[in-house]
Amino acid sequence: MIKTIYLSRHGQSLNNTKKLIGGNSGLSSDGKQYSYKLHQYFKNNNINVNVITSNLIRTIQTAKYFNETTQFEELNEINSGICDSMTYLEIENKYPEEFNKRKTNKYYYRYPEGESYSDINSRLKKIYNLINDTETDLLIIAHQAVLRVLISNYIYSDIKDIPYLDVSLNTIYKIIIEENSCKLEIINSI
Ligand code: F6P
Repeated sequence: MIKTIYLSRHGQSLNNTKKLIGGNSGLSSDGKQYSYKLHQYFKNNNINVNVITSNLIRTIQTAKYFNETTQFEELNEINSGICDSMTYLEIENKYPEEFNKRKTNKYYYRYPEGESYSDINSRLKKIYNLINDTETDLLIIAHQAVLRVLISNYIYSDIKDIPYLDVSLNTIYKIIIEENSCKLEIINSI
């Protein structure tokens, strides 16, 4: 059976505007506009989807115009442990060794008290199963690192490239899953 999944990052968050990673901030006014436009896109194109989000405020707010949504903590952004809510510059200054270790092997690097990209792939098993078992098309609203891993589960990417895949804000990634192949379309003018 052909199935389509639509993937989107949350709209711009307040932490995005301050260049802070992680945290649990709400949307900026740009982010709120995206949340409206995202819903309009599905409405105007008569696309019916079940909507799932992480359980962080920024994805829940992004889904606000959809009637029914379900939250999964498996879709939460990478847990950056002791580096949560810092800028990359602050991390580089405070934890230079950690910063360099991450640069050298980003997929397997695990933040102290946090996660690696590889850990995200393990916790996404539940979501891969959900996608397999769901008959309807899905809109998944999540986060940069999580969506890099999710997309690479369907569209092959070398492990070392996964943490650098371009997953932008204000963009819908549409994956058409067929019996033996998957196709990716990028929609960035909604
Ligand atoms: O900056 C936005 C963000 O979603 C952070 O919350 C997260 O830590 C980061 O992206 C993940 O991207 P990278 O693995 O490139 O640091």
